Amino acid sequence: MDRRGRWATIWPTNNKTPLSQSTIQKIAVLGAGTMGSGIAQVCAASGRETYLYDVTPDLAQRGLDNINKTLDKAVELKKATAEERAFTLKNAKITADLDLAVRGADLVIEAIPEKLDLKKSVFRRIAGSAAADAILATNTSSLSITQIADAVSNPARFIGMHFFNPVPRMQLLEIVRGELTSDDTIEKSRAFAESIGKTPILVKDSPGFASSRLGIMLGVEAIRMVEADVATAADIDTAMKLGYGHPMGPLELTDLVGLDVRLAIAEYLHRAVGEQFRPPELLKQMVAEGKLGRKSGKGFYNYPQK
Ligand SMILES: NC(=O)c1ccc[n+]([C@@H]2O[C@H](COP(=O)([O-])OP(=O)(O)OC[C@H]3O[C@@H](n4cnc5c(N)ncnc54)[C@H](O)[C@@H]3O)[C@@H](O)[C@H]2O)c1
Repeated sequence: MDRRGRWATIWPTNNKTPLSQSTIQKIAVLGAGTMGSGIAQVCAASGRETYLYDVTPDLAQRGLDNINKTLDKAVELKKATAEERAFTLKNAKITADLDLAVRGADLVIEAIPEKLDLKKSVFRRIAGSAAADAILATNTSSLSITQIADAVSNPARFIGMHFFNPVPRMQLLEIVRGELTSDDTIEKSRAFAESIGKTPILVKDSPGFASSRLGIMLGVEAIRMVEADVATAADIDTAMKLGYGHPMGPLELTDLVGLDVRLAIAEYLHRAVGEQFRPPELLKQMVAEGKLGRKSGKGFYNYPQK
């Protein structure tokens, strides 16, 4: 394994196309939250000029602060060098000006909240400023790529790019083909995935794709088991880690992803697929109480806030 271990994906080693020959040079990432900041980090680390956009300067800055923190940690753990950190930061720019972020971008990756109408409205808004041939990608965990693509004039260039949390560490990029996505868009997206050190898989546009559909099923069932007092959260997680070799238990993962994010996906899959995805009452109650997992300091576990 590369001496930098799991962090190596931040600084790609399996880049088949030299950056100068890539069709993607400038990238806009919309939404500077958990996913957007991670996505912007790996894009910037690959040498591309990357604009991270959020609705206010403070929110955009929070995204950059997260990138800084992740890079500081990587340097401290000797998983990255100070030069690699500086290189990434040089390429990462933040803005609260949507036109500026998107103008001239070859690829736009949207990572705003999991709400169909909100995502469509953002893609409609960028119609005038994005280049006609730019690839437009959504990081949705579950919504229909084909439905979001309704908002753009040329859905052939619209695609799902589903990254995983934490983005710099997770190897998978699930590429989701909408009904009208072109082969050219898929090939460019695959090449892009490899150029940022990710392993792409190709999935048809169907509710929850491959990863969320299975992941949410495990997550909601684990929550139902906590609700029914079958075992503690820690013991359920240990069952999956030691019994099935999962690196993280389903409840730890729910805390990491965010209970609100998982609830939104479960609600959607319940409507789109069936009863097996009905969100457990406990999940709804915890979200209503603001127990959102790591980001709020409380979920199935407690996270002392620094
Ligand atoms: N959290 C995960 O583990 C995970 C994993 C894979 C995919 N996703 C998906 O990624 C997307 C983002 O999830 P997240 O966890 O990063 O959410 P988040 O709440 O951490 O971040 C969302 C960001 O979008 C910003 N935002 C809201 N409205 C906006 C707008 N109109 N324009 C630009 N920015 C706007 C918010 O200010 C916030 O900073 C969702 O579609 C989610 O389903 C999440």
